[in-house]
Amino acid sequence: MKSFAHTSQINTANMIRKDIRALSSYHVADASGMIKLDAMENPFTLPPSLRTAWQAVVSEVDINRYPDSEMHGLRAQIAMRDRVIPEQVLLGNGSDEIIQMLLLATGSGTVMTPAPSFVMYEMVAKWLQRSFFTLPLGKNFALDAEQFLSACAREKVTLVFLACPNNPTGNMWEREALQTICHRFNGLIIIDEAYAPFASRTHTDLLAPNVMILRTFSKYGWAGLRLGYLLGSVSFIHELNKVRMPYNINSLTQASASFLLQHDDLFQMQARMICNERKRVSDALKELPGIHVFPSEANFLLLRVADASMVFEQLKRENILIKNMHGSDPALQQCLRITIGTEGENKQLLAAMRRIYHG
Ligand SMILES: Cc1ncc(COP(=O)(O)O)c(C=O)c1O
Repeated sequence: MKSFAHTSQINTANMIRKDIRALSSYHVADASGMIKLDAMENPFTLPPSLRTAWQAVVSEVDINRYPDSEMHGLRAQIAMRDRVIPEQVLLGNGSDEIIQMLLLATGSGTVMTPAPSFVMYEMVAKWLQRSFFTLPLGKNFALDAEQFLSACAREKVTLVFLACPNNPTGNMWEREALQTICHRFNGLIIIDEAYAPFASRTHTDLLAPNVMILRTFSKYGWAGLRLGYLLGSVSFIHELNKVRMPYNINSLTQASASFLLQHDDLFQMQARMICNERKRVSDALKELPGIHVFPSEANFLLLRVADASMVFEQLKRENILIKNMHGSDPALQQCLRITIGTEGENKQLLAAMRRIYHG
């Protein structure tokens, strides 16, 4: 590393805010050479003929130019798919970016989520020095609307994130509970439907001036493109757009997504295959002694075992990477989260689990 003689005494790390220095950065485990069942990706690569057609589309993109900043074409496609108007759609570089925009643009009131839930809500809230409150979920990770509403009032909450299906628990909350919260809470409600492709229902019908739906294509098969979107009221989307980085969706992603949306049926079929595999893997895991598999409407399963770290490490030794949730929340003691893979990957996972349990 080059040394800068006259400034070598300056500690630049100290120039970073103290509360930021106290954080840990988002950890992504090294998965090289492993069966990757840790990040809720779609395990299917593009079929060869579609890949060739997609490459032709991408090769036409003029990367010397900035992307289309307003993304009229792509927003119109998404709007049509979700039966809203394009002015109700805001695109983000992953839904993570939209979470950041929401927390940046919505003032200083308290943000609340049930716990455990998706870690980025709290992480971004901390970056932006927002006050953040979590309400523990009930038995079997149920959401109690009355408890939730009284916590909102007590903590002076202005913004809530409700991931449904929830990550990392995988369950859907009762529609009635969500409906009650949407009808009685006057702040902003973001229903995060990252796992909608695998769920038995969505909540677009709950859209209201203060109720928005957040979605992503990451779990649908395009995690590498980084594309998420928010559906909301025209006036809210108009205002939120003011904190969107210019050109936040690059040209290659725009062209790819526009093209791939014309092949939606393929990705819907893959989602159905993942749901079938979810049932098969869940049933097989339940046969093993001492494992509790929680019901899931997402593309992953949450399980409780006797010793999560032991199972995690043993699978790692067999080149299978899952996520150890133990220690991340009091309700996730001895819990593991396993993304559903291809049939072949799931077979290898189940064989490895049987070896761990039966020797
Ligand atoms: C509930 C939930 N919301 C949002 C995201 C972020 O997705 P994206 O890849 O679009 O940033 C995730 C990713 O795991 C998630 O689980």
